[in-house]
Amino acid sequence: MTASMSGAPLLAAENLIKTYGGAPALAGVSLTVRPGESLAVMGASGSGKTTLLHCLAGIIPPDAGRVRLFRDTAPPLEVTALNDDARSALRRREFGFVFQQGLLIPELTAGENVALALMLDGTPRPQAEQAAANALADLGLAGMAERRIGELSGGQAQRVAIARAQVTGARMLFADEPTGALDSRTSAEVMERLLRTVQGTGRALVVVTHDSEVARWCGRIITLADGVVVADTSGAAGIRR
Ligand SMILES: Nc1ncnc2c1ncn2[C@@H]1O[C@H](COP(=O)(O)OP(=O)(O)OP(=O)(O)O)[C@@H](O)[C@H]1O
Ligand SMILES: [Mg+2]
Repeated sequence: MTASMSGAPLLAAENLIKTYGGAPALAGVSLTVRPGESLAVMGASGSGKTTLLHCLAGIIPPDAGRVRLFRDTAPPLEVTALNDDARSALRRREFGFVFQQGLLIPELTAGENVALALMLDGTPRPQAEQAAANALADLGLAGMAERRIGELSGGQAQRVAIARAQVTGARMLFADEPTGALDSRTSAEVMERLLRTVQGTGRALVVVTHDSEVARWCGRIITLADGVVVADTSGAAGIRR
């Protein structure tokens, strides 16, 4: 977690192209995300935001172009060259995800949801539960580990999702409309928590959002239109730095 906050990239995409039935969803997108950086992706509905996030995170393979993950101790990993199994393992170990809703398991408690991220990758249950309790406490949810997801507010549930995304030690966090179901005050709280897990930690965040208030929390904002980047500007976090 000591990588420099500038210079070396953490994730780099080159000329990503993805076409569905003849219509390009991504028509050549390149970007670099550095440790400590938060990047918001904006754009109209259908402009390619989710497709971009899914290509960056190894959820779907692009038709062309490449994504590389840079790590401290190893040569860059070419995400786009991995097979399905290797991409799943990479997502479990090195990437964290926060989506609008639906990724937490309602039948499980907050603590179990977070611990599961570690147990899926072989951490024994007692250690996983301890790490989950710590991660929840870091996000202001001490004492809520035993509650089921349905017994939490929307903002609290998103903080559980953030805890789960980071408990594995993942350095690259991806979020798709993480505040899409929240009111503006709760959105600000969730964004603040999300950014706190990135700033000064060597992690980085790519967050898709329709909400310019949410985007402004980030260091950089790119805007997509018809699958290409049409704007690339500093956000509030960028100005503060
Ligand atoms: N699995 C798919 N099959 C076919 N077309 C798809 C698929 N996924 C996305 N598309 C198309 O690709 C384009 C980009 O979609 P994408 O989901 O990336 O947009 P978006 O910017 O995330 O939109 P929204 O803001 O509505 O979530 C759209 O025209 C969409 O219909
Ligand atoms: Mg989308």
